[in-house]
Amino acid sequence: MKKITVPDIERMKRDGGKIPVLTAYDYPLAKILDEAGIPLILVGDSAGMVFAGGKDTLSVTMDEMRYHTRAVARGCKGALVVADMPFLSYQVSIEDAKKNAGLLVREGAEAVKLEGGVIMADTIKAIADMDVPVMGHIGLTPQSIHRMGGYKIQGREKKQRKKLLDDAKAVEKAGAFSIVLECIPAALAKKITETVSIPTIGIGAGCYCDGQVLVIHDLLGLYDDVKPRFVKRYVSLKQIISSAVNGYIDDVKEEKFPGKEHSF
Ligand code: KIV
Repeated sequence: MKKITVPDIERMKRDGGKIPVLTAYDYPLAKILDEAGIPLILVGDSAGMVFAGGKDTLSVTMDEMRYHTRAVARGCKGALVVADMPFLSYQVSIEDAKKNAGLLVREGAEAVKLEGGVIMADTIKAIADMDVPVMGHIGLTPQSIHRMGGYKIQGREKKQRKKLLDDAKAVEKAGAFSIVLECIPAALAKKITETVSIPTIGIGAGCYCDGQVLVIHDLLGLYDDVKPRFVKRYVSLKQIISSAVNGYIDDVKEEKFPGKEHSF
């Protein structure tokens, strides 16, 4: 299996290929995604919601991200591992940001992702300057949920669109190797993708981005209550798991398990 590197991801945009990205938070799923050939795995701070059941990503800590990153990295032979920097790990000082980025690299991350555009340019530059590749993230930035007033499409108004374009340019200039565009109109994502030379990875940002990212729990249908419009569910794993567990419950109650073949 070929090991994917940051220059490989950058090359994919130049070559005109699309870049599929998925999140993972644990070893077994990371291993499955890696063996399936996904080029980039994001250890997202969405872990705080889909893995841990939290209402947002703000409570996720560095210790938790280090744990998830270590588990995912152990499962990856080919995929590039990018770890999210959680809330408060990079906003307080550039020194903190550099140290925390380094700690994620120590756990096996090959790049880190942080949220914010112009305002985070110096931080992105400082981390990239110590040779830790950075993925930017603009548009709907979940760590800013209270400012945004909820998980809402960003860049609908002209002023916001200009700001997001400026943010993308600032992230590129600061030295990021790629940038996530979350929940912005497809036409704006197209404009940003054509403007910057680094790959754009969209989520709820239409089809013109250089790559797409989905949260793995959404793709696998592990939850059946909410399904945002931008999600494509490829399987309903919740149903499959429930039916397996029901089978087990019935077997134990009806004394069908364990059988002779499971006994010593
Ligand atoms: O935390 C996450 O999973 C993310 C992706 C949705 C881009 O930031």
